[in-house]
Amino acid sequence: MTPVLEFRNVGASYAGAIVLQGVSFAIDEGETVGLVGRNGAGKTTALMSVYGVPHVTGEILIDGSPIGRSRHEPASRGVSVVPQGKRIFPNLTVEENIHLGRASGRSGYWTVERVFALFPNLERGRSRHGTALSGGEQQMLAIARALMSSPKLLMLDEPTEGLAPVIIDQLTEAFRAIRESGTALLLVEQHIGMIQQIADRYLALRKGELVGDGPVEDLGKREVQELIAL
Ligand SMILES: Nc1ncnc2c1ncn2[C@@H]1O[C@H](COP(=O)(O)OP(=O)(O)OP(=O)(O)O)[C@@H](O)[C@H]1O
Ligand SMILES: [Mg+2]
Repeated sequence: MTPVLEFRNVGASYAGAIVLQGVSFAIDEGETVGLVGRNGAGKTTALMSVYGVPHVTGEILIDGSPIGRSRHEPASRGVSVVPQGKRIFPNLTVEENIHLGRASGRSGYWTVERVFALFPNLERGRSRHGTALSGGEQQMLAIARALMSSPKLLMLDEPTEGLAPVIIDQLTEAFRAIRESGTALLLVEQHIGMIQQIADRYLALRKGELVGDGPVEDLGKREVQELIAL
């Protein structure tokens, strides 16, 4: 099976400062993968490498062919991201934000009806402006927007950061439903418990290098925890 996303010996740097080195991994269709590592380990940089944000070396492939230079290309080829922090348009309504997710031109399983079924409170607040939403609702909106291109792989950068436990539970349920739909997930999370609950596999970064890639059960092992130094 050709992986949805593959990194081959990927390096990344900001203005000459190297923050990722020799990173190789592959994510298959429908897989749920947790990406862990301490603050500054390079998790965000790894996700943003797909968009060429820092200077990137090595090869990144979607469905077996290399990505080009356009920042819109990954979404149109089925890889979408929910960046760290809440990236919604505060002056637009919930519905307008969701429709922006159609810009990639891709369509498939995820429709407005389905994302509203996934997040019923967004449906109830469909005409509210972004500014009127709670932190959790903003995160749900960012996820809903990313789903509108029916990605094969959805990458999420610390989606539970700063949210209350009850909201984290709601998001965990939503990730389960997204997983059930066949969408692969790459989830950057400090909240290891969540990864243990829903992921098949984990990847671990330490100081810009990949130090772990294995079944999620291994995250419970002391030697693995020490290696990642969570
Ligand atoms: N725009 C930037 N310019 C220069 N250096 C950066 C930039 N963004 C990140 N870095 C550096 O790159 C390294 C990796 O950062 P990155 O944000 O990828 O880590 P992270 O694992 O996502 O951390 P966190 O858990 O805090 O989100 C850090 O040393 C950071 O200081
Ligand atoms: Mg980060």
